Amino acid sequence: MKRIVFATNNAHKLEEVRAILGQSIELITLREAGITEDIPEEEPTIESNALAKARYVYEKCGCDCFADDTGLEVDALGGAPGVHSARYATDGHDFGANRVKLLRELEGVASREARFRTVVALIEQGHETTFEGVVEGTITTEEIGEGGFGYDCLFTPEGYTQTFAELAPEEKNAISHRGRAVAKLAAHLLGK
Ligand code: IMP
Repeated sequence: MKRIVFATNNAHKLEEVRAILGQSIELITLREAGITEDIPEEEPTIESNALAKARYVYEKCGCDCFADDTGLEVDALGGAPGVHSARYATDGHDFGANRVKLLRELEGVASREARFRTVVALIEQGHETTFEGVVEGTITTEEIGEGGFGYDCLFTPEGYTQTFAELAPEEKNAISHRGRAVAKLAAHLLGK
């Protein structure tokens, strides 16, 4: 079976990506690969951040690996939080504080169009490939739904009335930014 390191310790992401890649690829987490330190995410774009994370892992373990980076781009905020989505409110990946800040920044704003953008960067035997996934939607005026993580309870994907946090995981996966990027990765890895 093909083994590949996924540069994350986020259990939600791991589950989402496992569900898409299926049984034919064994995913190894960072911790399982022996990488316990935080990987720097200081690049100016989502793509360069994903590539930097994948390169970090490749240099450490020399094994095939991929990393993802995601940003929530809100039109009324000039594309913010974008590449800074994880550390929007504080330095410490505080999902709750990030959501509070986003709602505050959009108080009284009528046009709430936004999109999630994910780039997956794959390194196979030193060869780099990137895959992008985008989902358009709007930002709600309050938190709605219990599932998912991050900004899920504030994002209603285009064509839906529920937020990502209200959709079943497989429904979110089928249309989400990461789902779309990872589907491209899966097609590449599985030769479809
Ligand atoms: P990362 O680059 O995947 O760590 O994503 C950066 C930030 O975007 C995270 O800290 C989350 O707040 C947010 N994010 C990433 N993916 C999702 C998602 O699928 N739903 C909601 N928020 C997400």
